[in-house]
Amino acid sequence: MRLVRPSMKWENEHRSYLVEWGPTRIIPSSFNLEGTSSYEEYLQELLKREKGYGEWLPCSNYFLVSAENRILGLLDIRHELNDFLYRIGGHIGYSVRPSERKKGFATFILSEALHKCRELGMDKVLITCDDDNIGSAKVIIHNGGIEDHSEQDSNGIVKRRFWINL
Ligand SMILES: CC(C)(COP(=O)(O)OP(=O)(O)OC[C@H]1O[C@@H](n2cnc3c(N)ncnc32)[C@H](O)[C@@H]1OP(=O)(O)O)[C@@H](O)C(=O)NCCC(=O)NCCS
Repeated sequence: MRLVRPSMKWENEHRSYLVEWGPTRIIPSSFNLEGTSSYEEYLQELLKREKGYGEWLPCSNYFLVSAENRILGLLDIRHELNDFLYRIGGHIGYSVRPSERKKGFATFILSEALHKCRELGMDKVLITCDDDNIGSAKVIIHNGGIEDHSEQDSNGIVKRRFWINL
């Protein structure tokens, strides 16, 4: 298994992940292809976002890919926090494709993400999850998450917030 950057090579796999995900909004949202007319355009847009522009803070996006070149999961590392990310979103977002859950992949993605964060020079990261997301809370705690106070988003959903020292 390895982390790879989005590129044309992964278009079909990316699209198949979204089909398997279904109609709800993809997590992390940076992997949403809606609003772009081609994969090339999406990649260009992603590159701009990764450098930071408008409301987008600098970020890094990766696929977790199996030895058979199947995308198992998605990862977005936000290099900085704004008010919203500090309260609700955190530095790191991830997901695992529905057919590959409960096999330890999210725990692996987060541990790999922490290496990337160290390489970026970050010294601690904030990771959040919905109050009822037991799986994600376990993933964070397995990776050394220390819980801070919770916050509520604009829909009243309680967000648990954890810090990991790097
Ligand atoms: C949350 C999510 C990332 C977990 O991915 P995963 O690959 O299944 O997680 P892991 O296999 O590493 O599981 C870690 C632990 O959580 C448990 N777990 C995973 N999903 C669970 C669930 N739905 N309910 C209860 N426990 C769960 C696992 O059994 C494991 O427990 P253990 O350490 O005691 O054995 C995945 O369900 C997902 O993509 N959900 C939608 C997106 C999302 O919520 N992202 C996180 C945003 S904060």
